[in-house]
Amino acid sequence: MPNQVTQEWLTSLTGAPEEAYALDRADPLAGFRDRFVLPERSDGTQEVYLCGNSLGCMPRTVPAGLAAECEAWGKQGVEAHLDGSSPWYTYHTLVRDGLARLTGSHPDEVVAMNSLTVNLHLMLVSFYRPTGSRTRILMERGAFPSDQYAVRSHVASRGLDPDDVVQTIDPPPGEDALRMEDIAERIKAEGEHLALVLLGGVHYVTGELLDLGRIVDATHAVGALAGVDLAHAIGNVPLELHDWGVDFAVWCSYKYLNAGPGAVGGCFVHRKWGDDPALPRFAGWWGTASATRFEMADNFVPTPGADGWQVSNPPIFALAPLRASLAVFDEAGMPALRTKSRQLTGALAHLVEQLSCPAIRVLTPTDPDRRGCQLSLAIPGRGQEIYQALRAEGVVPDLRQPDVIRLAPVPLYNSYADVWNTVRILRSILTR
Ligand SMILES: Cc1ncc(COP(=O)(O)O)c(C=O)c1O
Repeated sequence: MPNQVTQEWLTSLTGAPEEAYALDRADPLAGFRDRFVLPERSDGTQEVYLCGNSLGCMPRTVPAGLAAECEAWGKQGVEAHLDGSSPWYTYHTLVRDGLARLTGSHPDEVVAMNSLTVNLHLMLVSFYRPTGSRTRILMERGAFPSDQYAVRSHVASRGLDPDDVVQTIDPPPGEDALRMEDIAERIKAEGEHLALVLLGGVHYVTGELLDLGRIVDATHAVGALAGVDLAHAIGNVPLELHDWGVDFAVWCSYKYLNAGPGAVGGCFVHRKWGDDPALPRFAGWWGTASATRFEMADNFVPTPGADGWQVSNPPIFALAPLRASLAVFDEAGMPALRTKSRQLTGALAHLVEQLSCPAIRVLTPTDPDRRGCQLSLAIPGRGQEIYQALRAEGVVPDLRQPDVIRLAPVPLYNSYADVWNTVRILRSILTR
């Protein structure tokens, strides 16, 4: 019985269900599935939920975590700010270490606050510093629209023309993924015109994972700063933001972090910037030192670290699910999750390849080092129909218009049987 997906296993895979069940029995992380509530069909059977790249499943401990804060609110009212069993005044610090571990950061470099796009606006205020002819921002073409809107509106607010400032990079003609060497060369070519590089760590459509360390090195070599959108990377792939020297990062927590719809987002500010009070920023009272905040001083003095970018007091009911979820991550550990993720997505990619279906083009890189757990299938002209057919059979993928079906086997709660069943159902749909 195989206890891991080896290259030999992949090559010999016939698609027989016993192989998937054997892998599930041998999976050291299999027990984590029960830590989550998986969506059900109307007949009470579990869906095959492959949509954690959009909204992660609910950790079972979330209702109790929320109930505890409801109880504190009801029984203690305002006093729970300081005297609750998890005082609200410092509640956001309860998720700090978990976020630091997942992002490869020092705890003072991360903070849970706001939502992704709001955090991006806040970071642009501080880290987009156009001077002279150094005004350009390099993004990937087809970046998540909210990032484009944030960047373009921010640039316009500075009196600059977004069409001049915002530069984009494409995959080579006929290819779906960016090439690292192209990104590095383009950064070099932009040279002293470049103020900021802003890329998605894992691309939301293709699932391509970028080599962020290499991008940061190339960016700094021309004197620009590097920011990343980690919406599809955090909780999905290992990150080393501090060591890579990333200047800032932003993320949301409702995808792989399983913190619920509209969950509180997060922000990373590298230590080299965190203690610089001269850096411009949009300030609010929660960015001041907690010990002196209630002295109600007229002057804003930022507290050191990422905390200094907080604007408002944190949403406790949005933080409680994140706290519950991070505890599960800590128990499983990112190294084990990444190992399983590579195997699970490798199995999915292999079984899809075995379909040999000319209608399907896999957009995600085949190299496991260049992807997380998402596999994106372009099915021109049939995306909507196949998505609906998968839904009718109890598989939950998601559809990016017009025709990209994204399948994300999440190592915390998906199984090899999920992967096997999905491809079995896909095969039957395609051959109808
Ligand atoms: C890559 C990416 N960036 C930005 C966002 C926007 O996030 P928010 O609505 O939390 O600002 C999303 C949302 O799905 C996303 O996938």
